Amino acid sequence: MEVIIMPDQGGCAIVAATIAAQVIRDNPRAVIGLATGSSPLGLYRELVRMHKDEGLDFSMITTFNLDEYIGLSPDHQASYHRFMFDNLFNHINIPEEQVHIPYGLAQDIPAHCREYEQAIRDAGGIDIQVLGIGSDGHIAFNEPGSSLSSRTRAELLAEETRRDNSRFFDCLEQVPSHAITMGVGTILESARCLLLAFGRSKAAAVAAAVEGPLTSMVSASALQLHPNTQIIIDEEAASLLSRREY
Ligand code: GLP
Repeated sequence: MEVIIMPDQGGCAIVAATIAAQVIRDNPRAVIGLATGSSPLGLYRELVRMHKDEGLDFSMITTFNLDEYIGLSPDHQASYHRFMFDNLFNHINIPEEQVHIPYGLAQDIPAHCREYEQAIRDAGGIDIQVLGIGSDGHIAFNEPGSSLSSRTRAELLAEETRRDNSRFFDCLEQVPSHAITMGVGTILESARCLLLAFGRSKAAAVAAAVEGPLTSMVSASALQLHPNTQIIIDEEAASLLSRREY
């Protein structure tokens, strides 16, 4: 793991966007894994700016999102589908048919999850996967106890996660109980991972992921096994690390 500590979120977003843009310039048909939440927002803003100001071309890339709430329609104001179109896809030149997001209203969820995995394989695998981290150390929605070889599946959300994410809903009761998530094993197959985390509230999770034991109780710790992962964090998120360099 390479840990990159920047003074603030803005600097992290620029580093992450520079890496992602290089992947796209090197391979215009790159397959990009995307995350939702507040952590990748600055990255998405910077990619939109690069598209508008520098002509960064998304017309041939393919994307796969990490996760989606079960029971929310794609146009629900808190769905990850809506988040991605509002914050990225509506502002760049990616054709909609090259965007993949798990479908929260799928009738047969296990079949949908198998198809999602197959679609990733058919696309040739993910070249670079953007990740955030939950305050309990999860990546995507791989809650504590998720097998480190897990695949795309339905997952019961931890209460801490539902509380954290209730800010996107009118009240806690509206936060779905389950989500479809890529598995830890799915994520580990990406050629490269970029994890973004900011603020004091992520410091314990970051320290557990980077320095803690490899454990299914902190799914982000599985990234210690990944040969090409960069953790891009601000000073506050780095505040519980025992070292500045890895
Ligand atoms: C959710 C998402 C994760 C994300 C996490 C952190 O649980 N499923 O993919 O990393 O939130 O979100 P934020 O970046 O808003 O702190």
